[in-house]
Amino acid sequence: MSLPVRSTGAPASAPRNAPTPPSRSSAPSSAPSSAPRPAPSPAELLAFVRRTAADASLVASLPLDPEGRTWVRLEGPGGSEAWLIGWPPGTGTGWHDHGGSHGAFAAAAGTLREESLAARIPTEGWKTLEVADGLDREQRLTAGRGRAFGAHHVHQVLNESADDHAVSVHAYYPPLPMMRRYSRTGAVLRLEQVERPEEWQ
Ligand SMILES: [Fe+2]
Repeated sequence: MSLPVRSTGAPASAPRNAPTPPSRSSAPSSAPSSAPRPAPSPAELLAFVRRTAADASLVASLPLDPEGRTWVRLEGPGGSEAWLIGWPPGTGTGWHDHGGSHGAFAAAAGTLREESLAARIPTEGWKTLEVADGLDREQRLTAGRGRAFGAHHVHQVLNESADDHAVSVHAYYPPLPMMRRYSRTGAVLRLEQVERPEEWQ
């Protein structure tokens, strides 16, 4: 797949080398700190990212840079990890997974295209994998639209606009233990890199 995408190596979903974020969180803190909380479900994370994407003042507070993605870390619900991310025209993530975390993301401005695989991709034990026919999926997320995904989700996310920035909100539970990055040639995914949280905190 050859797309005019500038991949900066920063996360799709979990940015690294984050600029100093404004100390701001839109995340509602919903439970007493002493009470054990159940893990937030993908549906709960989706509700959070959609609600946060609708917070116009938060979205407007994200610094935008035409040269690369920008991000601010947010406090997600139930101990999840969340990010507000700005995508200049032509940027994308490359194929990756989320290290076994489930999650959700929603567009807050612009349009993002997600390419994903309708298969449970094992998170361990392989270096190349040939994707069977018919498993590729694609969807466009315009502002206000989001999706949840499970622990074995593999995807890439792109802002293909020539002119317009996109902004999105992402949440993961548990907080990302790692991300695996893949190259893709035709149907073949190849594991290229494993990133750990210390690389993007
Ligand atoms: Fe992702």
